[in-house]
Amino acid sequence: MDKHHFSPPLNFNRWIEEYAHLLKPPVGNRQLWKDSDTMVTVVGGPNQRTDFHDDPVEEFFYQFKGNAYLNIWDRGQYERIDLREGDMYLMAPHVIHSPQRPEPGSLCLVIEKARPEGQFDALQWSCAHCGTLVKRYELQLQSIVNDLPPVYEQFYATSDAERRCNGCGEIHPGRDWQTWHRTLEAVKRP
Ligand SMILES: [Fe+2]
Repeated sequence: MDKHHFSPPLNFNRWIEEYAHLLKPPVGNRQLWKDSDTMVTVVGGPNQRTDFHDDPVEEFFYQFKGNAYLNIWDRGQYERIDLREGDMYLMAPHVIHSPQRPEPGSLCLVIEKARPEGQFDALQWSCAHCGTLVKRYELQLQSIVNDLPPVYEQFYATSDAERRCNGCGEIHPGRDWQTWHRTLEAVKRP
């Protein structure tokens, strides 16, 4: 008789225990099922960053351990959405967001669908001082794990001149997220 074309369930608690060592730096995330159109990922802290993600499909977040937040870039203005322990959040497509996970040991379940051909993701970086877009890279995303890191490296390899803000002249600090976040906080609370 043919093998069943369904698979057994996965026990989430046991899975978390098994992969706990990967759900922190330097890896920080793990996909539950490979080769599926539903991408189910657990993301752990600490992880902070300066890139913003423009996703053409919805993203679902369940912050099941510890607290995190999303920085939002909306047409040059910064906003913040807190994801406190126990919060669920369903984000609309093209909400340009940057997840911040300052707490070691924090864990978030993230679910998103595979992108239809021709619907592009983008990673973008913007000026912490004035909100002007500095760089944006579009891509046909197939793998969350493999397709994004080369884009980070492409941005980090740019020169200071290429990262100079057209709006105010401030130089985006690239990989140095602490400096970028300090500037954002200083602008919000002068
Ligand atoms: Fe600027």
